[in-house]
Amino acid sequence: MALLSQPYRALIIGSTGTIGSAFMELLQDKPTCSAVLGLSRQSPHPIDYQNPDSIELAAKSLVDTGPFQLIINTIGVLHTDHWMPEKRLDELNSDQLMELMKINAIGPALTIRHFSKLLDPSNSVMVTLSAKVGSIEDNRLGGWYSYRASKAALNMLIKTASIELARSKPNTALIALHPGTVNSRLSKPFRGEQIGRPPLDAASDMLQVIESLNKEDSGSFISYSGERLPW
Ligand SMILES: NC(=O)c1ccc[n+]([C@@H]2O[C@H](COP(=O)([O-])OP(=O)(O)OC[C@H]3O[C@@H](n4cnc5c(N)ncnc54)[C@H](OP(=O)(O)O)[C@@H]3O)[C@@H](O)[C@H]2O)c1
Repeated sequence: MALLSQPYRALIIGSTGTIGSAFMELLQDKPTCSAVLGLSRQSPHPIDYQNPDSIELAAKSLVDTGPFQLIINTIGVLHTDHWMPEKRLDELNSDQLMELMKINAIGPALTIRHFSKLLDPSNSVMVTLSAKVGSIEDNRLGGWYSYRASKAALNMLIKTASIELARSKPNTALIALHPGTVNSRLSKPFRGEQIGRPPLDAASDMLQVIESLNKEDSGSFISYSGERLPW
């Protein structure tokens, strides 16, 4: 049985990003979603992964607005003003590795810690966008050390939190979701415009998967098509 009962209230974290904005647009028009809120670095109570304290403060600012049946975290980086993904081992450096860990793994894990308190204990889903390239088993091409490692760490943090939440909030699912290649700011330097699909299509595919999740799916790594991905 689907975990997400309808109508549901949703919160999009990273609502100003390409996929985050697409989720906002989609959910605002969706009759099954009664309300959707967005949270970002630009919000009155901003969430900024450069400042981990902002995560708890942003969550606390929503205590009276919650609970939410659906939380989707879309925050993530692949490249910055300083770095592009490493092509070879000789490009690996501690600053880049630490930066991507901070934004792609530590920030999202602390977000699960603080925002899971806003989830409706009777039925809710918290999705964090991961990436298939974070799959250790599926790594055939190599390269992109920091991004791959940060998403693999994220996957472990989601899995571990899901085991704990299964005890304290058994009607909640924590999911790592791969959006596929999407035409976005993140994918632009990697031919995202040519090979990525439109963000609204991606959000719509992912929402279909999310709406069909059940509690036994908690702690899994799933693709936008619904396929289970290997860790
Ligand atoms: N696009 C793809 O092909 C693809 C493929 C696999 C996985 N993903 C994953 O999907 C997610 C969304 O990516 P996207 O394609 O929508 O990229 P995007 O357009 O670049 O959006 C990235 C989001 O992350 C936020 N962000 C970046 N640094 C932050 C920080 N320090 N604190 C708070 N927020 C921060 C951005 O906020 P601002 O708006 O304030 O900059 C924005 O909301 C990411 O987790 C990415 O790894 C994407």
